[in-house]
Amino acid sequence: MKLRITIDGPAGAGKSTVARELAHALGYGYLDTGAMYRALALAALRAGIAPEDAPGLMRLLSSVDLRLEHGRLRLDGEDVADEIRQPAVDRIVSLVAAHPAVREALVARQRSIASEGGIVMDGRDAGSVVLPDAECKFFLTASLPARAGRRHRELLAQGVRVDLAEVEREMANRDAQDEMRAVGALKVPDGALVVDTTGLGVADVVDRLLRACRERGA
Ligand code: DC
Repeated sequence: MKLRITIDGPAGAGKSTVARELAHALGYGYLDTGAMYRALALAALRAGIAPEDAPGLMRLLSSVDLRLEHGRLRLDGEDVADEIRQPAVDRIVSLVAAHPAVREALVARQRSIASEGGIVMDGRDAGSVVLPDAECKFFLTASLPARAGRRHRELLAQGVRVDLAEVEREMANRDAQDEMRAVGALKVPDGALVVDTTGLGVADVVDRLLRACRERGA
């Protein structure tokens, strides 16, 4: 059976690496919903639209071509998979993602991509709002220092030199914004298996999730 699998959790909990590997192990598709919010934030930066300007963001969303091709996100045909991870995008993406109209539009796209099943979707509200009746739901978490350390290593690997303390500060800010917003706030979805990944390797986490999915018929 082709299941719908959701993985939610705060930034840096290891969701995207685990989701990608789980999808690969099952032969399923992978959808990184955060990348969609990031791409809109990047488009807004480029167009000079403020992250608080909901009507401007909605106009932008209907005028740009945002699509996933072979797991890479394209904005008007350009591969932006790396650029959407830049600190300038990190700083505004929570504000962009807080607008109910923006969320409604992107959630509709996410549901349509998942409509045939056989998908692993990661995000903040994948199991609570986008696919509340998904067959398998997970919530990955880890301590703030562990999450900031992972994000810092990712940035260094991309050649972006930033201070670890600053990464930790910005992550704490983003967590607070993601948890407090009125719509699509980060929370543990009903029925989700919570896994604390602090000190665990990717392979251990993927194994644990894979076992749970197999038990549900994947
Ligand atoms: O997972 P990430 O760091 O790439 O997410 C980027 C931002 O988008 C983060 O601030 C939370 C937001 N987001 C969201 O609001 N809803 C989602 N389903 C995924 C991400």
